[in-house]
Amino acid sequence: MANIRVHFETFGCQMNKLDSEAAGEALLRAGFEIADDPDSADVILFNTCSVRQHAEERVYSRIGALKHLKRRRPHLVIGVMGCMAQKDGELVFRRAPLVDIVCGPRHEAGLAGLIAEARSGRRVLALDDGRIVRERTARPARASADLLVVDHAPHPYMERDGRTRPSPFQAFTAIMLGCDNFCSYCVVPYVRGREESRPPEDVAAEVSRLAESGAREITLLGQNVNSYASGLPQLLRRIHDTPGLKRIRFITSHPKDVSDDLLAAMAELPKVCRHLHAPAQSGSTRILHLMNRRYTREDYLDMIDRARRIVPGIEIASDFIVGFPTETEDEFRETADVVRRAEFNQCFIFKYSPRPGTKAADMADDVPDAVKKRRNTELLAVQEEVSVRRNREKQGRVFDVLVEGVSKNDPRKLSGRTGGNDIVVFEGPESLAGRIVSVRITNSTALTLFGEKINDER
Ligand code: 5AD
Ligand code: SF4
Repeated sequence: MANIRVHFETFGCQMNKLDSEAAGEALLRAGFEIADDPDSADVILFNTCSVRQHAEERVYSRIGALKHLKRRRPHLVIGVMGCMAQKDGELVFRRAPLVDIVCGPRHEAGLAGLIAEARSGRRVLALDDGRIVRERTARPARASADLLVVDHAPHPYMERDGRTRPSPFQAFTAIMLGCDNFCSYCVVPYVRGREESRPPEDVAAEVSRLAESGAREITLLGQNVNSYASGLPQLLRRIHDTPGLKRIRFITSHPKDVSDDLLAAMAELPKVCRHLHAPAQSGSTRILHLMNRRYTREDYLDMIDRARRIVPGIEIASDFIVGFPTETEDEFRETADVVRRAEFNQCFIFKYSPRPGTKAADMADDVPDAVKKRRNTELLAVQEEVSVRRNREKQGRVFDVLVEGVSKNDPRKLSGRTGGNDIVVFEGPESLAGRIVSVRITNSTALTLFGEKINDER
């Protein structure tokens, strides 16, 4: 019998992408095949995101679009996994009757079994029941599932060798799962549960396996990697000398936990990229308090100063939410002022989206959408101004660039990243992919540096 073909469609953050990789790997081990396009697949799995309502709507509309395919091929299995599966549970079956499997995070290793159940005609609901806070998320009863699994599986990445990663040179490793911060707008602690750090020896073993199989850059992943139980600086030191490894990154950092110790490790360890993604979310102390972020505007700006002082050349990226409940025009100005002062190399800006079950959802979503849109556009424009100027200042300088491959926008050129996570486009042979080369910057836009290679690979 031919292998069962599974197609993944992944929404949301880097952690979701990694979960899809891990799920794919587990299925390959169990004798399944990965299908690149949905039309030739026996199983379509949507790995979903709940962080904003928009992300959820996109999934439901994608599933709806499969109606004709499912009519033509009644044995097609459709699964919804990830954060929205955990958050909505059985509600997914009601909203999207085509769905056969609803499966929350941490069930990656058991997917083969769940798919087998679904192929024999049962509706499967598998949820994580660890230390997830469920009281505030209204989940309806479980009547419509034929099989219900509620458990707390062990860390799903134990055996991972990274064979399904999209780039041979770059790999991600989850060093912790879940989040304990309970920022008032955020659904993550409710769907991904309490913080759980992996033992450093597991992380080190996985990093070694990934480096052996060709990964030159490893990104350590977690919702808040700074609260890694046995210390992020220690972990960075421990994996630093892994043979074959050339770069180490980590995301995401909570500003309140960016310690001098971590900054010192970044300054001291040559393979650790001088790049920090530390989302500010707002530049107003009152809003930060309502967000339960546990730092003030001044604390944040002070963190930026410390980072620049201890780690020369560091690049800092941030996320912001505009239109949080009660945010005034003046408070928005304070946010714009932080963007102007902090000199980020990259900003991700989101319109506030109330998430059922979170603390902020108890407040009225009182900033009109038109105002959120305008604040979003204005903040992007401020960052663009900063980026254009800062990138122009980089012209003439030489950066180490890890070559990722042929540029998407210009197939005659290569594209790669600096340690600071700036994108660099330049000419060179495709054979440089995976190497670190020196590039002198000759031109730039807000989003891209352009340059020329000045010597050979290392
Ligand atoms: N509304 C809008 N943006 C949100 N984020 C998290 N929760 C929400 C929400 N309810 C943003 C934050 C976070 C990023 C991943 O998504 O900026 O850093
Ligand atoms: Fe959400 Fe805050 Fe945790 Fe980030 S730190 S995942 S924003 S609760």
